[in-house]
Amino acid sequence: MSETLTRLTRTVKGAGCAAKLPPGDLDRALCGLDLPVDDNLLVGLERADDAGVYRISDDLALVQTLDFFPPMVDDPFSFGRIAAANALSDVYAMGGTPKTAMNIVAFPAKTLDLAVLRQIIEGGLHALREAGVVLVGGHTIDDPELKYGLAVTGFIHPQRILTKKRLRAGDQLLLTKPLGTGIICTAIKAGMAGSEVTARVISNMAALNREAAEVMSSFAISACTDITGFGFLGHLAEMVVDSGLGVRINAAALPHYPEALEWAAMGLLPAGAFHNRTFRGAFVDFAPAVPSVVRDLLFDPQTSGGLLLAVAAEQAAALQHALLARGIAAACLVGEVVKEPQEKIQVV
Ligand code: CO
Ligand code: CO
Ligand code: CO
Repeated sequence: MSETLTRLTRTVKGAGCAAKLPPGDLDRALCGLDLPVDDNLLVGLERADDAGVYRISDDLALVQTLDFFPPMVDDPFSFGRIAAANALSDVYAMGGTPKTAMNIVAFPAKTLDLAVLRQIIEGGLHALREAGVVLVGGHTIDDPELKYGLAVTGFIHPQRILTKKRLRAGDQLLLTKPLGTGIICTAIKAGMAGSEVTARVISNMAALNREAAEVMSSFAISACTDITGFGFLGHLAEMVVDSGLGVRINAAALPHYPEALEWAAMGLLPAGAFHNRTFRGAFVDFAPAVPSVVRDLLFDPQTSGGLLLAVAAEQAAALQHALLARGIAAACLVGEVVKEPQEKIQVV
């Protein structure tokens, strides 16, 4: 295999790791725009949720989302799987069932072999098959920087939409995948990550949030999101904003890659971690004992991260047990919703 085939991440000029526009920039760009008004638009742009929801009838609504990014791992098939798992995740985070998908591809046809494109799309198809989703089309352009992702459409009952809002005081917070993928992908790009940790992070990023979503559907979940580019605290802040409530996070309980803390200690952090801290740092009060590497981990942008659920306290242990029984080994209770201080995240 040529160098380009074995080191896909080398083709990425920027920070890699699903680098989003710095948080806050999009808000500024959209601020004051005349957004469409439609009674059937149940979740739209102004809500900043995981996906949009549009009602078709009293018992059916469409869930729509789109995610794409440059490669964060070197293996094209794995990149395709991860990108698809990540795109599907927003539908699961809304409580929906994904049904159809379309590829979106920017491919450097002058520098990469078409076999790479084929393997990426194969990886995407693998994830879609697992999800029971049909690929219906897509769009590919020639572009100097490789990017791949999918637009996904799912079904949901209009009364069963899980947004980021509606937290209740006393709810327990549960996270389903380990944190630290941004730091580990930075190490992969720097050529520092060994094959074992690389395989472990790929396997977790490629894992669908489908099973977790299926399990949660029979529990009293008040709010749900998936942890992606804004990091654990960035997405948690979106749940806390305007909730009139606060949350308390138990730093010691957070599922994470041990290697991520080691590399964070060496300063191996993706640019997104700094943007996330700048944007959402004001929401967070860290207890003095929380180590700086754990703070870094909590702002680390995730690719295809887990679901973050708020569940009624009396069902929390049963939900964790049910997730573990389905093989979701990282499922951890990581904190709780509290009345005070409002709109603050305390990390203790
Ligand atoms: Co999301
Ligand atoms: Co998304
Ligand atoms: Co949601």
